[in-house]
Amino acid sequence: MSESNTGPLWGGRFSSSPAEAFERLNASIPFDVRLAPYDIEGSVAHARMLGETKIVSREESEELVRGLRAVLEEVESGRFSWTLEDEDVHTAVERRLREIVGDVALKLHTGRSRNDQVALDLHLFVRDAAENIRDALLETMRALVEVAERHRDLILPGYTHLQRAQPILLSHHLLAHFWAFERDLERLDAAREAANVSPLGAAALAGTPHPVDPALTAEALGMRSLANSLDAVSERDFALDLLYACAVLGVHLSRLGEEWVLWTSSEFGFATLDDAYSSGSSIMPQKKNPDAYELMRGKAGRLVGNLNALFVTLKSLPLGYSKDLQEDKEPLFDSVDSVLGVLAVLPEMLRTASFDGYRMQDAAGGFALATELADYLAARGVPFREAHRAVGQLVRRCEEEGISLEDVSDEELTAAHPALADLPRDLLTPEGSVANKKSSGSTSRESVEEQLRRAQKLLDSFEKT
Ligand code: ARG
Repeated sequence: MSESNTGPLWGGRFSSSPAEAFERLNASIPFDVRLAPYDIEGSVAHARMLGETKIVSREESEELVRGLRAVLEEVESGRFSWTLEDEDVHTAVERRLREIVGDVALKLHTGRSRNDQVALDLHLFVRDAAENIRDALLETMRALVEVAERHRDLILPGYTHLQRAQPILLSHHLLAHFWAFERDLERLDAAREAANVSPLGAAALAGTPHPVDPALTAEALGMRSLANSLDAVSERDFALDLLYACAVLGVHLSRLGEEWVLWTSSEFGFATLDDAYSSGSSIMPQKKNPDAYELMRGKAGRLVGNLNALFVTLKSLPLGYSKDLQEDKEPLFDSVDSVLGVLAVLPEMLRTASFDGYRMQDAAGGFALATELADYLAARGVPFREAHRAVGQLVRRCEEEGISLEDVSDEELTAAHPALADLPRDLLTPEGSVANKKSSGSTSRESVEEQLRRAQKLLDSFEKT
């Protein structure tokens, strides 16, 4: 390697090397090295196109591809080593390529800039990450369906204001999360589609005088090709899309986590986690803590924060590359890692938990059945407001007498409202209440069976793709 070719890629116009503190600030290599496989995939497509278009000779193109494959091999085996002087992953790969194939490596950058290169790497990363998160999320959705099917008969209270409201099937509750995750799948797919565009051909920002064929590289990468070189190097919408999908998913996971923190408390006592998914206290020997669910709840903060971070980075950036864009990577990597970390644990944590059907059912009775009485009266022609008042007064009397709604005598029922005289008593049970729901999408057994069929069909459709 000749002396004039050492130092930064852009060293030509500089008479001294960068100050060490600046070099540390400027370098992205400590975190962007994980883009190496994508960087090499993009460079292979670019090198092939350079050969096809005769910008380099066929032999040179083949030599570049061979060298890039050797670099990839080093990356995958963990032998690839970088230094801070490499500045970023693009430089590190090119440096190593030159060490392997010699000066032909200097031709790889023809018709390309690090600006379209880094954009491409990120597009490829986001496309992959969206697919990985989708697959991991599907596994959680499978677990929800399995647990819902296994516990078809369990009933717990549904809550409003965290006050017991009305009885619902546990399977209905679990499937509520399933449908939220189905919307997350759609958001992940949208992010994948947004990422599936190749910016190559844009070069620094204006395009290139070399007769490159951006459609060819795009096709080789399974992507659409760019429409505008300036937009191609400037936009990070696809990264925002993935961060948004992760943030919404993170909020869904957080809400699920919060419920399990409640359910596993002694106060609720609805569920117990398997020991493999709980931790103890260093001082209180009796403790069994739901750390994983708490972390799931806690991570929503950084997921929303990461989206916000990139929004603020992008706002006010003029079109064209600015170094601010280097700040897109860490929030993106962090969100992807956080979501995948949680989704790696959740399916088995759901599958191995046990439920206390008695505690749940007990909590779902009593005053949680009051709406049943009001609806019964309304179905018999009593105006709903009047029915509501009559039952409200009955509840108050029960509270004063310290009895539960199921224990009210026929006389007290009739006194509350004459139309309650012939009330079928099984309506005043959690099962009767659940069975009495008629609307589609409700908690009735038929509706839940229908939901389970739809959910299974959705999961099967992914199995086939
Ligand atoms: N490390 C840079 C980044 O992450 C790569 C692009 C550098 N481009 C440039 N014109 N300095 O954004």
